[in-house]
Amino acid sequence: MRLIIGFLLIGILFINCSNEKKDVKQMEIKKENYGTVDGKAAYLYTLTNKNGMTVKITNYGAIVQSLTVKDKNGVYEDIVLGYDKLESYLEATPYFGAVVGRYGNRIAKGKFTLDGTEYTLATNDGENHLHGGLKAFDKVVWDAKPTASGLKLTYLSPDGEEGYPGNLYITLIYTLTDNNELKIAYEATTDKATPVNLTQHSYFNLSGNCNTDILSHEVWLNADHFTPVDNTLIPTGELHPVEGTALDFRKPTEVGARVNNDEEQIHFGRGYDHNWVLNDVDGSLKLQASVYDKSTGRYMEVLTEEPGMQFYCGNFLDGSNVGKGGKVYNYRTGLCLETQHFPDSPNKPDFPSTILRPGETYTTQTVYRFSVK
Ligand code: GLA
Repeated sequence: MRLIIGFLLIGILFINCSNEKKDVKQMEIKKENYGTVDGKAAYLYTLTNKNGMTVKITNYGAIVQSLTVKDKNGVYEDIVLGYDKLESYLEATPYFGAVVGRYGNRIAKGKFTLDGTEYTLATNDGENHLHGGLKAFDKVVWDAKPTASGLKLTYLSPDGEEGYPGNLYITLIYTLTDNNELKIAYEATTDKATPVNLTQHSYFNLSGNCNTDILSHEVWLNADHFTPVDNTLIPTGELHPVEGTALDFRKPTEVGARVNNDEEQIHFGRGYDHNWVLNDVDGSLKLQASVYDKSTGRYMEVLTEEPGMQFYCGNFLDGSNVGKGGKVYNYRTGLCLETQHFPDSPNKPDFPSTILRPGETYTTQTVYRFSVK
């Protein structure tokens, strides 16, 4: 009997070790110097999976700097917007590839009241607060540590940073799998009640060249409703059916098919820049959106645990951002699918809560999965 147990233990140990070895062998991580910000070193990490797909991530802003994905002919190309050099990210950038927080998206007039105290945040988007403020999570250097299959980034956002209450300790793990998935797992804890809404702000262009706009990309969103906005992009508080509007993506539809429709919501968003209320949300990871580029066959699926999806189609890109390899990012040459809670939730008691309290742990996951059709 002892002998059998002994063999079993050795067997389990052996399986464990060989799994670890397999992980280490399959995932390659390269680390390069990328510059210095606020006296802290920034690095560029390259993760390569066994198929040859790569993702480059910098610990400055937890930014995905490049993502190469193969097309229907097996050709790998970079499908995200961004810059070659760190210096360009330090200048005004429309959040290319970054992780945004403490509150991704907008808070009306930069004000919210929590447990009887009113908090004032920067109004960095007209009269509203956007994406965590002036020097938010996209503009700080995170601590980074490679793991067996990815990169672990941590950041302590001090009490009062950008006007938010509480020390917020965030852990973010990027994983590149051999199924061609980029996984993002977020975790956060706080010592005072605070709103938290983290998201990833990559701009995708599945054509792989960014010379063409994304209007022929076919988008599917698993949402029967969206949150209509006012002309400053703050939700009115209603959930409006997508039926009969340009925001109906329940069947895969080209972005360009209705993006210029003469509808109030399209005027307010200057195209698509809205939050979709995802169906079937129960906190588990669900397939909620997809994008397909016929010309290259590239297909991206988005899985998330979040109740909302901000679909933004690059309406503010105007050719003033010169990106990787000198490429000019023109109008609508990238689209974002930002998984998140609804905009302005701290001021909308009927929206799912974004308040994290001491003793609780914020956890959420999003997966961008790539294949060809
Ligand atoms: C988000 C917003 C957009 C815009 C971009 C950055 O997606 O919803 O309105 O601000 O970020 O340009």
